[in-house]
Amino acid sequence: MDTSNAPYMILNGKVVPFAEARIHCLAPAVTYGANVFEGLRAYWNADDGQLYVFRVEEHLDRLFYSAKVMRIEHPWTREDFRNGLLELLRVNEVKESVHMRIHLYVDEDGFMTATSPGGMFISCVFRPTSKIAMQGCRAQVSSWTRISDNASPPRVKSAANYFNGRLASLQAKSDGYDTAILLSETGRVTEGPGACLFIVRDGRIVTPDVSNDILESITRATLIEGAKEWLGLDVEQRPIARTELYAADEVFFCGTGQEVLPVVEVDRFPVGTGTVGPITAELQRRYFGVARGTDTAHPDWRTPVYV
Ligand SMILES: Cc1ncc(COP(=O)(O)O)c(C=O)c1O
Repeated sequence: MDTSNAPYMILNGKVVPFAEARIHCLAPAVTYGANVFEGLRAYWNADDGQLYVFRVEEHLDRLFYSAKVMRIEHPWTREDFRNGLLELLRVNEVKESVHMRIHLYVDEDGFMTATSPGGMFISCVFRPTSKIAMQGCRAQVSSWTRISDNASPPRVKSAANYFNGRLASLQAKSDGYDTAILLSETGRVTEGPGACLFIVRDGRIVTPDVSNDILESITRATLIEGAKEWLGLDVEQRPIARTELYAADEVFFCGTGQEVLPVVEVDRFPVGTGTVGPITAELQRRYFGVARGTDTAHPDWRTPVYV
């Protein structure tokens, strides 16, 4: 991957050099996956000479929701995380696009039911848009089933959930694909290992509704609102069957890390013409505009870093 770590991180509220950001190997975060997180992006806007973090408040809402469900007790407030994000970007003097993580976890040592002490870190990685974002990726419908709400709820952004996506990704890669699409226990399309999924068929945009074992993605919500505003199209939110993927004219993933990623092949069937479709391309263009702030709509979605 075309990424590199920024020199500083934040650990338990303090700026530390990257090499010193360590936790104990017996922390329940490590031994039992008692660890929730958010992935955010900040975009550099050269015209404004400004770096914007995209949809900070929505990410913090989800972080606190995940910590609540996992019963992680911690002393930090929204302001602590918001200020920490901004401080870290400033101390690293970031003037390009980066991906950030906030992790909130059970620290020190303890049993499976330990709920404290809470630990936190924030990281920053220089991560440009992936090279396949323009040409599209090739996906495999995985033979691994998506985790379900009453077992390991995908709505909770817990690090432990990524075991499922990891299995599917490794299988897809070893079978010669770029990534995977997971089906639910009932055989419905859910999402990718790190992104939600949309299809376009006969001009209609469809995505699985949030009761289909998916993460309640912030990019998904952005695109649902964007499709209406930019293209005048309502997105249908409903269960999607596997074979609808093979009938679709366009398919794309979306997520903070993957942004808007076209899918040009599923299970070796070309999607539509086998190239990036017009609705996907337009949503991608508009998404980048609003995230970078070259499109000035929705200023509330962008938090400026430098004042
Ligand atoms: C499993 C999964 N689904 C969906 C998403 C997209 O969520 P968001 O748009 O909030 O980044 C992610 C990435 O964070 C993810 O890991």
